[in-house]
Amino acid sequence: MLAHNRIAVISGVNLDQLGRRDPAIYGDLDYDRLTQRIGEFAKELELSTQFFQTNFEGELVEYLHRVHDIADAVVINPGAWTHYSYAIRDALEIADLPAVEVHLSDVMNREEFRRSSVIADVCIATVSGKGADGYREALTTLRDHLANTAA
Ligand code: DQA
Repeated sequence: MLAHNRIAVISGVNLDQLGRRDPAIYGDLDYDRLTQRIGEFAKELELSTQFFQTNFEGELVEYLHRVHDIADAVVINPGAWTHYSYAIRDALEIADLPAVEVHLSDVMNREEFRRSSVIADVCIATVSGKGADGYREALTTLRDHLANTAA
């Protein structure tokens, strides 16, 4: 078991509305079932998770200011903030933890504005278009990264 295995799984704006959003794009899990699934993936990988979702940008910034004290790595799906929030990008840089960006949908093959991510450069990887399974990939990437960087 890794000594540093605490993963903060962060969801941004509108992700609490999964279940009401188009299932053809976002899948049919609502937010609670998605977090349950991610928790199961994490258990298989011997990682511990804590979940945070907010629709308030400043609340996410403040969570990122304190995440270093409670987690060893971050999985983040910022929702639409991905595409324009320099405040969240800077807060993630301040957090100074390995982070993987996840999108349920295939953002590269949707509207033009979804193709750009202002947080990608402060993440070690991006996973998109794989639905809930994308979170398993993100957790695996972080587990390997934490194992390789363990002192
Ligand atoms: C999303 C993609 C974003 O473009 C969108 O604004 C979301 C969800 C995804 O998980 O596919 O809210 O991050």
